[in-house]
Amino acid sequence: MRVLVTAGPTREAIDPVRYISNRSSGRMGFALARAAVEAGHEVVLVAGPVSLATPKGVSRRIDIESAEEMARATLAELPAADALFMAAAVADFTLKRVARKKLKKADGIPDLALVRTRDVLDIAGRRKRAGQVICGFDAETGEARNEALRKLKAKKLDWIVANDVSRPGCGFATKTNAVAIYGKDGTEKTVGLRSKLACARVILSTVLGEGR
Ligand code: CTP
Repeated sequence: MRVLVTAGPTREAIDPVRYISNRSSGRMGFALARAAVEAGHEVVLVAGPVSLATPKGVSRRIDIESAEEMARATLAELPAADALFMAAAVADFTLKRVARKKLKKADGIPDLALVRTRDVLDIAGRRKRAGQVICGFDAETGEARNEALRKLKAKKLDWIVANDVSRPGCGFATKTNAVAIYGKDGTEKTVGLRSKLACARVILSTVLGEGR
């Protein structure tokens, strides 16, 4: 299968030297890309700014910075993909105006008005063609089941992988994770604390079907 994976954070520029971002390391998405290569799939990886080496065997890595660049790259690759794993932590908001020159203290407190970014996963869910599989991710602080099930439905996903990033050993800065996988067919599978690669293997085999 042709598998499209997104990973890492995005950066929303404030001025030429500053940005707004999030704590995503990209490790979960890169582990998914590696697991997909291992399973014999052709993998395209769209990556935000991360300090991780491209997993061996990935066909193409596209590096992006902003949420809009993430949207353009992912939506351009989507028609050719059989499956999308949207593991990237895409910014929900970006700056209304990006300053062309560095903001100076002497100019006073800057007005950082924000506007919404495009929701790539929501667009992908609506554009989904027959046979395509779309898997979203949901990072919450606290109980994630209800939110995950809400997003699964609202974004017309086939699958969503939820994790509680406030739990020890889970989330952004860690090498391990614990997740719950929800399918639109009613599947609910919990994956206890283990390496992100081990999580990725379970996610992949659940979403793409065992033994494929
Ligand atoms: N996502 C995306 N494009 C965005 C924002 C998020 O594709 N601009 C994707 C993420 O990659 C992830 C999923 O949507 O797979 C979860 O995103 P989230 O921001 O939690 O969804 P929201 O519905 O915006 O959630 P919340 O109500 O928590 O803000």
